Amino acid sequence: MAQDSGSIEALLHEDRTFPPSEEFKKQANISDPNIYEEALKDPEAFWAKFADELDWIKKWDKVLQWDPPHAQWFVGGKLNVSYNCIDRHLTSARRNKAAIIWEGEPGDRQVYTYWDLYREVCRFANGLKSLGVKKGDRITIYLPMIPELPIAMLACARIGAPHSVVFGGFSAEAIRDRLNDSQSKILITADGGYRRGNIIQLKQNADESLDGAPSVEKMIVVRRTGHADENMVDGRDIWWHDLVEGQPLTCEPEPMDSEDMLYLLYTSGTTGKPKGIVHTTGGYLVGTYATTKWIFDLKEDDVYWCTADIGWVTGHSYIVYGPLANGATTVMYEGSPDWPDRDRFWAIIAKYGITICYTAPTAIRTFMRWGEEYPERHDLTSLRLLGTVGEPINPEAWVWYWKNIGGGRCPVVDTWWQTETGMVLITPLPGITTLKPGSATRAFPGIEAEVVDESGAPVGPGAGGYLVIKRPWPAMLRTLYGDPDRYVEQYWARYPDIYFTADGAKIDEDGYFWLLGRVDDVINVSAHRISTMEVESALVDNSKVAEAACIGRTDEIKGQAIVAFVTLKDHVTGSEEIVAELKRHVTTKIGAMARPDEIYFTGELPKTRSGKIMRRLLRDIAEGRTLGDTTTLADPAVVQALMEQYGEEE
Ligand code: WTA
Repeated sequence: MAQDSGSIEALLHEDRTFPPSEEFKKQANISDPNIYEEALKDPEAFWAKFADELDWIKKWDKVLQWDPPHAQWFVGGKLNVSYNCIDRHLTSARRNKAAIIWEGEPGDRQVYTYWDLYREVCRFANGLKSLGVKKGDRITIYLPMIPELPIAMLACARIGAPHSVVFGGFSAEAIRDRLNDSQSKILITADGGYRRGNIIQLKQNADESLDGAPSVEKMIVVRRTGHADENMVDGRDIWWHDLVEGQPLTCEPEPMDSEDMLYLLYTSGTTGKPKGIVHTTGGYLVGTYATTKWIFDLKEDDVYWCTADIGWVTGHSYIVYGPLANGATTVMYEGSPDWPDRDRFWAIIAKYGITICYTAPTAIRTFMRWGEEYPERHDLTSLRLLGTVGEPINPEAWVWYWKNIGGGRCPVVDTWWQTETGMVLITPLPGITTLKPGSATRAFPGIEAEVVDESGAPVGPGAGGYLVIKRPWPAMLRTLYGDPDRYVEQYWARYPDIYFTADGAKIDEDGYFWLLGRVDDVINVSAHRISTMEVESALVDNSKVAEAACIGRTDEIKGQAIVAFVTLKDHVTGSEEIVAELKRHVTTKIGAMARPDEIYFTGELPKTRSGKIMRRLLRDIAEGRTLGDTTTLADPAVVQALMEQYGEEE
């Protein structure tokens, strides 16, 4: 199948191509390449066809209302997302099909059929109602990867209360900011979760977060680890199992307008303050439903596993909403890939007969480093399709994944998208696209993407530029919660009526997209999106720090690692202790994933004459490169000193 696979030459000049096999093509959900042209001719009709496959309480009057930069999709339509993800499957044999197969890190397991899911979602939805939750109330969810997480999300969707899921790795302060920004009425958490054999102290973080979050009336707590029973606060905290006890087993789904908010999800942008990305009901469901069906070639008997955490958008769209809207079996795993050993993922694939596996390049690079002996321990022949998401994948990792996990049999779909886009926008279609390792290939049908220069003119093949999306798509963000001006300014100001992704990319002769990473101050650490400004604000918040600048340094495993350059206050001298203290400080302010890998102390930061920090030079220093243009520096001695101290180290 692979042409010229394996040669060193090929690795250096990526010219290997992987066309779909005849066998795959024959059974694929979509294998007609004309679909691209067809969809672009009439995108609204293209999306409406998918929408027709869903259940509407009232059909839409108009597919798209586009008043740039504001889109409304399926205008006038009424539907309920939880009904579409659950109830509509109950009238067929899917009723008894596994909707969620969940495995806890300690090895415990639960299977929810669609009927089980229906019952649990209804009971919990009724529980929320009994606490006074009404349509439109925001609910923050801070849970580990346990079944109660998707159940809570679907229950919120059922009663029309938008959820805001906060990843379990975030600190108390980060939760508090999100609670206050969303003005959440309820916080749902667990006593703890398992990770690498340890208990993550979720309840403790949740408790601390409420100190200064006055909108929260109640905290619902799942008993997962059983270690924090004494920490329940009378009158405020209520156990999940007590709340659902005795609740009716049915709950009428709230008729939602297509454009009612389904959820908000905070993500990092160029400023220190996370943005609340707003996703609505109709378009989001259509977009995630369609992309899941075609990109993952989802079939009735597939066992689909996306290894992401539901705390990020990938989990929202491709563990919960997309797969369940398709009536699929979706697998969830609570813990770490190296617990109790480095073969845990492969053991899970073999155990459940997983057919589709979707993970991040950073995980693949880690598995590569661990070696083939771990996947070799298990029978992975159930797999038929692989996917990646979250960051550019280097061709070596792609080929390793294709060969060692996919057995040279499974197409690898490299999917590009963002929290903002809600759904995958650039991706292969496995029954059509000839794959090239390292390229996310083409825009999904109906999506018009382009690479442009500063002036907005399309760049030619081979040249680099900014990735933009030229027309609205159903699952696009609608606004930033409570900050409509920033929505316009952030995404639509650079090029009129065109969505600015903040990603660099190039297009090759075949029109394939090659993603080059962010062009703003967002960095991508182990496929987690972190703003350098957020880390800088956290550092400056420490009383010893005068100024800080962070950059992303290329990292073989994580994609990027955070390096912080810190100027201390006059009376303080840098030391190992202060490095440790500052790392701890960032962990407390944001969470462990934002902790800098390295902290360099410097008397001053390199700045332009107008006072702008020259991050480009800091990046050169951190990566041990020869410095780029330094002519705009206000004081060249600053860089000289930094170079002497850190530059030649590596
Ligand atoms: C990056 C994750 C290259 C990109 C779904 C984007 C990718 C950011 C890919 C969004 C990919 C995501 N190839 N880069 N296949 N997928 N990215 O919001 O820089 O957490 O802007 O959404 O991840 O990250 P977010």
